[in-house]
Amino acid sequence: MSRTCLAALLLFQALTLPFALAENGERYARVRASPDGIGKVYLGREIAQVMSYHGAPWLERPERMEEERPDLVLAALELKPGMTVADIGAGSGYYSWRMAERVGAPGTIYAVDIQPEMVRLLEVQMSQRRASNVKAVLGTTTDPRLAHATLDLALLVDVYHEFEYPYEMLAAIARALKPGGRLVFVEYRAGDPKVPIKPLHTMTEAQVRNEVAVHPLEWVKTVSNLPWQHVIVFRRK
Ligand SMILES: C[S@@+](CC[C@H](N)C(=O)[O-])C[C@H]1O[C@@H](n2cnc3c(N)ncnc32)[C@H](O)[C@@H]1O
Repeated sequence: MSRTCLAALLLFQALTLPFALAENGERYARVRASPDGIGKVYLGREIAQVMSYHGAPWLERPERMEEERPDLVLAALELKPGMTVADIGAGSGYYSWRMAERVGAPGTIYAVDIQPEMVRLLEVQMSQRRASNVKAVLGTTTDPRLAHATLDLALLVDVYHEFEYPYEMLAAIARALKPGGRLVFVEYRAGDPKVPIKPLHTMTEAQVRNEVAVHPLEWVKTVSNLPWQHVIVFRRK
């Protein structure tokens, strides 16, 4: 290798190494993957596998009304006509059309998912329910593809624990919120023996608040009247 090539190689490594360390050595750690996990750890928590679109019938099961009380979740969201809302990790759109009814024709729901098959299922359901104010968005694992400072509310139901890049996703969601806009987590309660959900798909309130603390978001309240989940509300500073 010529001296010029070697110098170029060393310069390239010097420039790229700090980014590689930040990505793999500092922010995230690797472990042997547990059965429901991806072997990637963020702030002491192994990230769960993404639920496949094959699981969509479970999301739409009729018993969900009693088991999870989505009516109480929707009440906690305090939606108003005309609001702009993102349903991130929308799945088949279980919450998207219900929120669309509440924000009405002047409002918009951006329903974001990373699985093209899930987005297609969502589009079929929105068309059957005539929810024309729901706009489907195919996001990526690091970017929900939402315009900056446009959202009154971002909703994450049963999805945050499976974000492959939780830091990057929260940073992008914070950017998409208007000042004062709210970010709402709905997660299955970790450590509650009544909750029949695999541990990696549950989270404690403390863990959620710890992961949000590095972003320009402040905790507002936690609603604990649901059978299996907690609703944890933050506001964009
Ligand atoms: C367990 S489902 C929940 C769906 C819906 N929120 C519900 O409660 O019915 C999680 C969904 O989040 C999606 N997802 C995972 N990571 C995502 C990401 N980074 N951005 C957007 N969607 C994501 C998955 O593809 C899956 O459809």
